[in-house]
Amino acid sequence: MQINKIMVVGAGQMGAGIAQVCATAGLEVLLHDVSEASLQKGITGIEKRLQRAMEKGKLTGEARQAAINRLTPSSTLKDVKTCDLVIEAAVENMEIKTKIFRDLDEQAPEHALLATNTSSLPITEIAAATSRPEKVIGMHFMNPVPVMKLVEVIRGLQTSEETYQAVKQLAVQLEKTPVEVNDYPGFAANRILMPMINEAVYAVYEGVSSPEDIDTVMKLGMNHPMGPLQLADFIGLDTCLYIMEVLHEGLGDSKYRPCPLLRKYVKAGWLGKKSGRGFYSYQ
Ligand code: CAA
Repeated sequence: MQINKIMVVGAGQMGAGIAQVCATAGLEVLLHDVSEASLQKGITGIEKRLQRAMEKGKLTGEARQAAINRLTPSSTLKDVKTCDLVIEAAVENMEIKTKIFRDLDEQAPEHALLATNTSSLPITEIAAATSRPEKVIGMHFMNPVPVMKLVEVIRGLQTSEETYQAVKQLAVQLEKTPVEVNDYPGFAANRILMPMINEAVYAVYEGVSSPEDIDTVMKLGMNHPMGPLQLADFIGLDTCLYIMEVLHEGLGDSKYRPCPLLRKYVKAGWLGKKSGRGFYSYQ
């Protein structure tokens, strides 16, 4: 199946990153958001990043302009009528996602595939909200999308082989490396990453070492680009807690229990970089 035109739903950090990568790779992209302000912020961010890439010599002026020309803002899901694929990157809330998928299922052409960038919600359940579960799939990009090479391609229970192959091929076209994952809590990336972050929080909680030193251990000892606590601040402590809860509930094993210190920080509004305070201060 040839994918020429896509809609990205949600113009936040992930959605804008996905739209940027798709437009740069030659796809026609409709970037949709319910908020006009978010849409404008998303488009401006993409233009700035493409400008920076051009200044660094990673993109010609022509390629930058062509990518911008392939990108169109959209304020209504009805625009999906002309698309071959949708990548949904809205908030991580099952009620909102199932509503979006129900609407997309009604409006999208029969052949269109519906992908979600969810990091933790079950693909199988999202697919069940539509009349085309065989065409629903997970396409989980990593943050920052333009930099990170991985895409988890997640098969729901009813995802067809044809859908899987089309999305896998698209990930390669986007110059990403796809990995095949089945639909279980946290998929593969967060099943492994989040317990590591949670364990780093336990190490602070139990007084093993300071946040700075724990991060140094993992940066210099394991060659990670960021320490786990700096990464947790970057992802958002509320998101980390939410994913730990998904793992704990979905897998039923006490080894996934969220650290009380992580809960305490989230309750205090210390959400990491976005709130100005997490394990580090960003004032
Ligand atoms: N958007 C686009 N490009 C960005 C960027 C952003 N938000 N942040 C950094 N970059 C680019 C920079 O422009 C720079 O590009 P060039 O090489 O072309 O100059 C490059 O990335 C490196 O940036 P810096 O030199 O400023 O900083 P760095 O070397 O520390 O790299 C980083 C920054 C890429 C974020 C690096 O620290 C890193 O890899 N961190 C770990 C990221 C990670 O683990 N992400 C996964 C998060 S988990 C997730 O996404 C899944 C989930 O469901 C929670």
